[in-house]
Amino acid sequence: MTTGRDEVPPLANRYRVAVLGGDGIGPEVTREARETIELAAEIFGFAVAWTDYPFGAEHYLKTKEALPASALEEMKGHDAILLGAIGDPRLPVGVLERAIISGIRFGLDLYVNLRPIRLFAEHLCPLKGKGPRDIDLIVVRENTEDVYAGIGGFLKKGTADEVAMQEMIFTRKGVERVVRYSFDLCRRRAKDKKLTLVDKANAVGAMDLWTRVFEEVGGEYPDVTRDHAYIDAACMWLVKNPESFDTVVVSNMFGDIFTDLGAAIQGGMGVAASGNIHPGKASMFEPIHGSAPKHAGRNVASPIGAVLAGQMLLEHVGQPAAAAAIGAAVEDLFVSGRLRSIGTDSGVSTTQQGTLIREAMRRMAANAPAAS
Ligand code: IPM
Ligand code: MG
Repeated sequence: MTTGRDEVPPLANRYRVAVLGGDGIGPEVTREARETIELAAEIFGFAVAWTDYPFGAEHYLKTKEALPASALEEMKGHDAILLGAIGDPRLPVGVLERAIISGIRFGLDLYVNLRPIRLFAEHLCPLKGKGPRDIDLIVVRENTEDVYAGIGGFLKKGTADEVAMQEMIFTRKGVERVVRYSFDLCRRRAKDKKLTLVDKANAVGAMDLWTRVFEEVGGEYPDVTRDHAYIDAACMWLVKNPESFDTVVVSNMFGDIFTDLGAAIQGGMGVAASGNIHPGKASMFEPIHGSAPKHAGRNVASPIGAVLAGQMLLEHVGQPAAAAAIGAAVEDLFVSGRLRSIGTDSGVSTTQQGTLIREAMRRMAANAPAAS
């Protein structure tokens, strides 16, 4: 709770957060996330020092600079990074996404891409007969290897004999660290204590590395049940029996695809958040939706994904109560019916959604027994 005095929180209670609003709807949704974090800070007695970065299409078109090495270096000195969205139709596909999103993921070695798939209220779910009790899983997507590692290229580019290739690479260390993280997370989550490895080892021989590492590391976690599904079947199960999942560990590209499906069953891309994490280091938090250029500047995009990214950020820096307060406020918005959908036609604007979340936080804080 606020004390009513103008106390400056001690350094340990002050976090440095880098912000990249980015492109399209990115800046609008990030603004709401930031204000929501600010309110959480006020209620729970900590402070955030923000550093704004201009990177994105506008900046690139003006300066030809995507993500300078010096900025990446500076970001390492922060506790976390909040990112809105990157991508602009004026630029060739993927140029900025690779330079900025992948640039941060790889540059800071953020090997975990954590993507909770949680349904807040039944009316958001496109699946018949499924409710919040059925849809509550967390996906750990490997974030620094696979076809995203950039090993590939062209031969005889632009000719009839052109060859294009991109290698799916996995390293022992890379697989092991993300698998270990997933077992730890599954244990901590204490839901069904079941970790599902999702891969395509039946067709992609190299994925045998995942199979072996999963078994080996799993041996150290006798309390966690090991489960397995091929990616194609896992997509089918996610629609048919989402309740069968607890924690999932998956390689980078399959995880990218699987989590869009996950976003759809939790209500849509607008509600899904992610953390790009290296435990103990500056990590980056972002909604999983893109920049949606056609909705930019119209105050219609839902900020929920960005706000929930803010929740994950606070969890990461060590403010779990503040994080939980944001989660509870978002849940209240849906359960109370104040927000019926997160589509751009919800009738509740970006800024109104942010305001409603913060009102719920204030209300809950006022009703809560005094926090210490
Ligand atoms: C995501 C996105 C990115 C990815 C794109 C924008 C490069 O789809 O974060 O899921 O493929 O990882
Ligand atoms: Mg994606």
